[in-house]
Order: sequence, then C-alpha cells, then structure tokens
Amino acid sequence: MAGGIAAYKAVEVLRGLTESGHDVTVVPTAAALRFVGTATWEALSGKAVHDTVWDQAQLVAHVRLGQQADLVVVVPATADLLARATHGVAGDLLTNVLLTARCPVLLAPAMHTEMWLHPATQRNVLDLRGRGVVVLEPGAGRLTGADSGPGRLPEPRQILEAIADLLRRRPSNDLAGRSVVVSAGGTREPLDPVRFIGNNSSGRQGVELARTAVSRGASVTLVAANLDVDPPAGVTLVRVGTAAELHAAMVEQASAADVVVMAAAVADFRPDAQAGSKIKKESAEATLRIELVQTVDVLAGLVRARTGVRPVIVGFAAETAADASELLAIGRGKLARKGCDLLVVNDVGRAVVFGAADNEVLILASDGSVTQLPRRSKAAVADGCWDAVVRLLADR
Ligand code: CTP
Repeated sequence: MAGGIAAYKAVEVLRGLTESGHDVTVVPTAAALRFVGTATWEALSGKAVHDTVWDQAQLVAHVRLGQQADLVVVVPATADLLARATHGVAGDLLTNVLLTARCPVLLAPAMHTEMWLHPATQRNVLDLRGRGVVVLEPGAGRLTGADSGPGRLPEPRQILEAIADLLRRRPSNDLAGRSVVVSAGGTREPLDPVRFIGNNSSGRQGVELARTAVSRGASVTLVAANLDVDPPAGVTLVRVGTAAELHAAMVEQASAADVVVMAAAVADFRPDAQAGSKIKKESAEATLRIELVQTVDVLAGLVRARTGVRPVIVGFAAETAADASELLAIGRGKLARKGCDLLVVNDVGRAVVFGAADNEVLILASDGSVTQLPRRSKAAVADGCWDAVVRLLADR
C-alpha cells in the first residue's frame, strides 16, 4: 500500500483476503506507515512487515516477493505510486515488488481529484493499462477535505471482487501455440471528409478478448476499428476504419488463424456515395437524403470461406429483447443464419453495456448448448468465451 489517507480502508481489504483463506504479505511504503502502523498490518496478516529492501537482505525479498506472488494489489495507489510504477522507479520494497512481479497487478487509486485528472496521472494510467496492469477507476464523492469528485478509493467490496476476478483468470496456457484474430470497435462509414455513420461500440469487450488471449498463451492479431480504449500490449495491431477495410483485414488474417472472433460492431449499411468535400448546409435542401447500401457480412463470409474445421469462428450479437426467452430465440436464429460455431449474445436494451466495465452474456454453441455468464467484468466475460473456444478446439 502507498501513503494516502485511504490506507485505513486497505485494512478491510486485507481482512477480506485473509478471511477467505489467502496468504497475504503486506508491503507498505514508508509514507503508508504514517497513516496505519506496522502493528496493525502484522496483526492482521500474521506476518512481519517491511518497507525497505534493506531488511532481511539475505532473503532477497525485493525479488522473491514479486516473483512468487499470484497477484500484487496496491491499495491505495497514490499519484506518486502510479508515476513510479509507470516508469519502473524502484526505490523501496513495494516498487521493487512491482518491477519483479510476473503475475497480474491490480492498482486501486485514491487521490485528490486534481491529481487524478492531471494529464501526467492520466497518461501514467493509460501506459499502465496498456501493459496489462489493472487500474481500477476511482469512485466519485466526498474526499478527505470539503472537496468532492473522482479520486475516492473504490469500495473495499469492489476491490475484493476485482481481486477474485483476477485470481480466477490466473494465466493458464491453454491457448499456447494458437493463432487468434479478434476484431474490435465499431466501423465508420464516411459521408464526406468530416462525417460518418458509425456504431456505438467502445471496443472494450474486444480488447479484453485480445488481452486475455495473450495471457492464455495465444499469438493474437487485433483488428481494431476506432477504439475508445488503448489496445493491449503483446498483440499485432491492424487498424481499420470502414467495414470494407475490416473485411479485407479479416479475410487476410483468418486464413492462418485457429480462432476468429468478430467482436467488432460492423456497419450493416454505408452511404452509397461519399462526397469529396464537406457537405455544406447552404448548398443543401432542408432535407438531406442519404442512400445507404448494404456492406459485406464479414462473419457470414468467413464461415462460407472456411474449408475444414479451422478456424473456430465466434460471432457477437448485441440485441434488444423484451425478456430472456426472446433474447435466446433471437440469438438462436442469428447463430443459425450466420453459421458460426459460437455466438456471444448480450442484451443492450435493459442494461448499460456500451463503454461499461461489466457485461452479461449468453454463449450459444452450434451444437445447441447455452452457457450463461451472469454480470461480471468484461475481462471475465472474455475468459468465459475463451473457455468455450478451448472446449471446441479440444473436440476438433
Ligand atoms: N457482422 C459482420 N459483418 C457485418 C455485420 C455484422 O461480420 N456487416 C458480425 C458482427 O461482428 C457480429 C455478428 O456479425 O459478430 C452479428 O452482428 P449483428 O449486427 O448483430 O448482425 P446482423 O446480421 O447485422 O443482424 P441485425 O440485422 O440484427 O443487425
């Protein structure tokens, strides 16, 4: 833990972890110990607590702790800690642990709003997330003084849930040697040089699919259409804009792939003609008519072009249904129409899905089986999808 007033809330996180049977070593910064002292951490973790690399140097704890951990969690992560973690500065035991950890790392930030919103901190968070570090969004609300805004430590319950998520998806290598192509984001079909018709898709689910595939050992190509989020580290990135560009990239990439996942929201229609210069209000009628023509169905095309059982092909469907049984019926119809092996269906009518951190899906398989994944992080949904893919690969 780093030195912030929210260190006292880390006590609750520590209790939650030890009560559920986890073996926890507490590594505070010197500043953290000014807020909550060694005695509290030692009593609750049942272990000696050190903050410098100079204690027990013969045990080389600064390397061993990071190497042997299943998960490193920093609660609270201050602006200073985020900066040091981003740049690999390792002046104390905690930052040494961060530098030697090869396991998942979770940072739960807490700081004043100005510090959180400062471009330096935001840039650090982007960099960390790009490297696969999980940086939770701070909560908004009352801060230490009279001020309020984003910067509150996420609730201990939320931190414990995020920890459970990460431990569940402890990297396994069940996609090792597999080549995977994931499309993500939403295509944009230009009307003129400044306007387009687009889809509401942040690309987060597709990015989580790519990130988790990397952590499970796959070699991953991410075909990215206008992402709102940073692509993960460790993928081959192919950037596209329109449905036609996405189509060309997917056809090229799919030929050598073991698995293809179409998580992108592809425009079904594009303007028939694209104006070479900006359409001006003065030179148009009160009504502007745009003729739309259908784009290629990339997913159906990939299924048709497949000759043997490879690649495994996964489609996504965002639907608005009145209830669960209608959602299932729509999903089954679409799976049959598209002919893919798996269709991941989510209901975008009743819950916030676009841009959200969580998702709730049904995975329909062409053999008729249905797997329901109740609401969870998009990373955990991605892992559920890969579990289904791995089962199919094993049967082929
Ligand atoms: N898809 C695609 N090419 C398109 C449209 C969709 O490959 N031109 C893919 C999406 O990436 C997704 C799946 O098909 O994996 C389902 O997308 P969806 O838009 O739900 O399918 P549509 O056939 O367009 O059905 P609807 O009429 O419900 O929009």
